[in-house]
Amino acid sequence: MSRFKIVLVGLGRMGRVHAAALIKSQSVDVVAVADQSSASIESAREMFPGAAMYSDYRQALRHAGAHGCLIASPTPLHPEMVQQALANYLHVLCEKPLALDVDLARQLAEQAKSRQLLLQIGHWRRFSPPWQKAKRLVDAGVIGDLLMIRLSQWDANSPPASFCDVSVSGGLAIDCGVHEYDLAEWFFGAPVKAVRAWNLPLVERSLKSVGDVDNLCAVLEFADARTAFVDLSRNCRYGDDVRTEILGSQGAVFVDLLPTGRTRLATKDGVVEVEGSQVADATAAGVENQLESFVSAAISGNFDDLPDGRASARSTEIGHAVTSAAKSAKRMTV
Ligand SMILES: NC(=O)c1ccc[n+]([C@@H]2O[C@H](COP(=O)([O-])OP(=O)(O)OC[C@H]3O[C@@H](n4cnc5c(N)ncnc54)[C@H](O)[C@@H]3O)[C@@H](O)[C@H]2O)c1
Repeated sequence: MSRFKIVLVGLGRMGRVHAAALIKSQSVDVVAVADQSSASIESAREMFPGAAMYSDYRQALRHAGAHGCLIASPTPLHPEMVQQALANYLHVLCEKPLALDVDLARQLAEQAKSRQLLLQIGHWRRFSPPWQKAKRLVDAGVIGDLLMIRLSQWDANSPPASFCDVSVSGGLAIDCGVHEYDLAEWFFGAPVKAVRAWNLPLVERSLKSVGDVDNLCAVLEFADARTAFVDLSRNCRYGDDVRTEILGSQGAVFVDLLPTGRTRLATKDGVVEVEGSQVADATAAGVENQLESFVSAAISGNFDDLPDGRASARSTEIGHAVTSAAKSAKRMTV
């Protein structure tokens, strides 16, 4: 079967992670790359020697024969790029968040649906082996009824203030938080009802001028007092770390990203590492599996159970509530 032809838009920090997955994949051909930066285009020429290079993403999205596109450009550009891609009948894998404006994200999701196109968002944790193993254990009832989840995303160092700017990234509560809210609702299989949150003292002073914070904690309330605790850091110094700890009535499941990706199951019989869960780079593995899921769903037309435009709108909506709760010291319903 011929390969899925894809256009890559944006070859920056996250675009390079996607590029590694695209190069490794046996299911895709990168037929075009678009980036405004000539340095990125130079690297793209080495990575994808057969692909056409564009400085104008509109032209790239019209590249003849393309089936889909992968958008890894700065967040404020996602809506117009996604709109263009859908108008050209391309399936879209877009980085998170789809749009900072929740209504706009929902409109884009509807637009994709009405054209029977897949609009998938880069919530890679759902595709990473340690989280997939955890989800299977939870869904099989191995730890009983879920009670609480702790979700940490601690990044090594803050990106530049120009990236963190709340009008660009959405700020920490959205930029990083969306992954964790998405996971919390995915594991509980239920919606968050209300949130409380607070910002910690600023570490990176340059973030003040762009309205961002670098450390925050949030409590997400679910029905029946079930709870998710989310803590986010832009500057833990030791590495980009993610941990998820799930407590049920009969035990717990722990997911680690560092020093190696793995899942542990804790029951009355002890704590054991789950077979097949260990992966040296669980981020890269998640991004690779995410790409393969995108391609096979786009080809088959079955878009069920994927983090789509509506999922991105939902996690962004929770992110806005977290931002408001932290600012106002009030409990916010979602
Ligand atoms: N899923 C994750 O874990 C994760 C991690 C980091 C970033 N991201 C997301 O990825 C996206 C990009 O973030 P980043 O850190 O890679 O940013 P970045 O600034 O490093 O890269 C953006 C790239 O887009 C290019 N670009 C800018 N304007 C363009 C245009 N008009 N046409 C074509 N290319 C253009 C830039 O030249 C740059 O190469 C953001 O939406 C961010 O939220 C996701």
